Amino acid sequence: MVKTKKSRTHYVCRSCGGSQSQWIGKCPDCGTWDSLERFTEASVSSMGSGSASGLVELWTGDDQPSSVSATPLPEIESESISRKSTGINELDRVLGGGLVAGSVVLLGGEPGIGKSTILLQAAGKMAGSNSTILYVSSEESAYQTRLRAERLMPTEGQIDGLDSLYILADTNLARIVEQARKVKPSVMIIDSVQMIYKSDLDASPGSVSQLRRCCTELVYLAKVSGMTIVLVGHVTKDGQLAGPKLLEHLVDVVLSFEGDRHHGRRVVRGMKNRYGTTLEVGLFEMTGSGLKEIPQNTALLDPNSKPQPGSVICPAIYGSRCLLAEIQALTATGFLGAAKRRASGIDPNRLAMLIAVLEKHGGLRLADQDVFTSAVGGLRVVEPGADLALCLAIAGAHFGKSLKAGVSVIGEIGLGGEIRPVHQTALRIKESVRQGYRTVLGEIFLEDHFKADFEHQKVVTIGQALEMLQ
Ligand code: TYD
Ligand code: MG
Repeated sequence: MVKTKKSRTHYVCRSCGGSQSQWIGKCPDCGTWDSLERFTEASVSSMGSGSASGLVELWTGDDQPSSVSATPLPEIESESISRKSTGINELDRVLGGGLVAGSVVLLGGEPGIGKSTILLQAAGKMAGSNSTILYVSSEESAYQTRLRAERLMPTEGQIDGLDSLYILADTNLARIVEQARKVKPSVMIIDSVQMIYKSDLDASPGSVSQLRRCCTELVYLAKVSGMTIVLVGHVTKDGQLAGPKLLEHLVDVVLSFEGDRHHGRRVVRGMKNRYGTTLEVGLFEMTGSGLKEIPQNTALLDPNSKPQPGSVICPAIYGSRCLLAEIQALTATGFLGAAKRRASGIDPNRLAMLIAVLEKHGGLRLADQDVFTSAVGGLRVVEPGADLALCLAIAGAHFGKSLKAGVSVIGEIGLGGEIRPVHQTALRIKESVRQGYRTVLGEIFLEDHFKADFEHQKVVTIGQALEMLQ
């Protein structure tokens, strides 16, 4: 007899995807309020294989021929991964070289940050090099997308040449797949995944059920058809729509588009990549005609500018390259016992530890001081190599003192207030010198044959480092 398993209802957090057995006001996993949503799994008929007893029968039963079998590792044929360039170097860098056929990429970011812009630019470049691209615009009409394209490709006749770039303004997944079957694109872009729906599900677009089902089917479609699917996912601060966190484990690559909406600089970071590293970042500038890449050798800072108290330059490593980051701090009188510590683009736990080190070994009294810190320009500086720079920024802001002009700071700080050398020192020093920062403050470890025209100011404790502020 076929028994039907009772469908199970649980509550899934829209923000982090955590599952609870009953509804509660605040998600215990991520702390978001009012984010749990009722989720009912489709009922599964247990015909033996699903139940534990069925598994035991399989284990003890006769060997039946099966189409799937486990294979020893060396017998698995290796396939070389074919990658398609997006035509945008900075984006390719974060992807690990380009889009992999049959993979699914999720591009997340706040609304208005530039996700549609970068994908339309990439679609234009790929279509220009004879690839068929289907751009599914589920938020804007086809006409709006054409207007955007005109803005991004101002050269006369450029759009007319793009007859392999197909635009579809639809939100119904079945119709989207139908069009994809006709157009046979090598890359399909879905902007955004929160707007598409499957009509046989009784849930609104963007809900946990719709997102999971649509995404699972698209992942399957990518695997069987070999096309690359790029999904756009909005992350909203108030958690109104299901956050891309829910989809992270389903897709192959997760990219995050970040930056301050009110400033031009944008950064694309890898959060997960089954085909490459997640350490790389891509840098862009938003201009009147779309996103422009900031190439590797651009000088982003001026070494001759007057040093400001609370601002320190630190070379930080992002995958294969080094970028000079400006770390800023501000201290202001707060309430004893309730002083604020804020970090933007900086690890808040590291900040708390460094404030403790400054108090204990640097002689600073920060218990009644609010401390605000940030990495300027949308970069995230979360590596320990930036410890010394962060400490000097905080102490500089506190005392109203700064380092000399043209100094870059390298060093990790231990709990005893000692400064330690960090990895990739040679690359950091080369980039500092190239951008005109010829004095390196901190503890460094270099191979004998390393040559660069720089001055090393060696400091081994936080106390010595603080003496460099003037
Ligand atoms: P958009 O790509 O629509 O953001 P998202 O898809 O992430 O929601 O970008 C919207 C912002 O970018 C909008 O504020 C206008 C600005 N923008 C430019 O500054 N220049 C441009 O060429 C374009 C197309 C947009
Ligand atoms: Mg958009």
